[in-house]
Amino acid sequence: MSNNLLAGKVGIISGALNDKSIAWKVAQKAHEQGARIVLTNAPLAMRMGEIKTLAAEIDAPIIPADATSVEELDKLFTEAQGHFGGKIDFLLHSIGMSANIRKGKSYGDLDYKFFQQTLDVSALSLHKMLAVAEKQDAFNEWGSVVALSYIAAQRAFLDYTDMAQAKAVLESIARSYGQRLGHQRKVRVNTVSQSPTKTTAGTGIAGFNAFYEYAQKMSPLGNAPAESCADYCISLFSDLTRYVTMQNLMHDGGFSTTGISQEMADLMEKAGE
Ligand SMILES: NC(=O)c1ccc[n+]([C@@H]2O[C@H](COP(=O)([O-])OP(=O)(O)OC[C@H]3O[C@@H](n4cnc5c(N)ncnc54)[C@H](O)[C@@H]3O)[C@@H](O)[C@H]2O)c1
Repeated sequence: MSNNLLAGKVGIISGALNDKSIAWKVAQKAHEQGARIVLTNAPLAMRMGEIKTLAAEIDAPIIPADATSVEELDKLFTEAQGHFGGKIDFLLHSIGMSANIRKGKSYGDLDYKFFQQTLDVSALSLHKMLAVAEKQDAFNEWGSVVALSYIAAQRAFLDYTDMAQAKAVLESIARSYGQRLGHQRKVRVNTVSQSPTKTTAGTGIAGFNAFYEYAQKMSPLGNAPAESCADYCISLFSDLTRYVTMQNLMHDGGFSTTGISQEMADLMEKAGE
């Protein structure tokens, strides 16, 4: 159902790989709420993914850009503004990749080249996007930036390895850039810390089912689905959240503030019998 929350707004959405991607749902919902959108993803991912289907569905051009390349991001922001005929109101950073995770490296045996690549792709890319946008003065006043994070930024989780550090850096960049862009352009920058979600990136993590089921059992509302994450992102792009900035916002069904749930307590009782 549309409330036209984003009527007249234009934005860039990164990270839609297939219909499981969180960014895919955000793009669909932003379109439904009246926004015009430019889609972007890494050139390689665009060949593998199904992004063209989404582009046709929501009538959005695709501008490929490797999010680690300042040059390609510069082209992305220039061309997006050319397409819209003006500045941008919102940006979704929905990008994560760790070759260490892909190759099943344990935390004690990380490849440092991969580690640097993880930080570059999954965290510094947010800084690069915002630095390019700042230099081009690409944001309208009261614009909004959302990047997707995970609670492993605050707490240790098995097998999330170097992505935990990447998320901590990502959240820190959001605060620092939120301060800068808020002051300069009244643009807000937040991270949304999402429940485990069955996407390509999510299910690529060893032991993902354990993450997912544990969070499901611990969260009073259950794990937040990708569609609900998209709804939350829309609210953050809308004018209803103008003074929310520099926050890491938990979108996790109550997981992060639960000590133990009844379901887990029952399981532990049984285990102790
Ligand atoms: N799935 C989960 O459990 C979960 C939970 C919390 C946060 N997140 C975060 O949500 C975001 C989106 O992930 P998703 O779960 O929708 O999975 P996804 O695999 O659908 O999306 C990840 C995207 O990152 C893109 N990407 C990778 N390298 C890139 C590069 N160099 N340049 C540009 N784009 C690149 C991929 O092409 C892909 O579209 C990520 O930041 C992820 O860490 C996911």
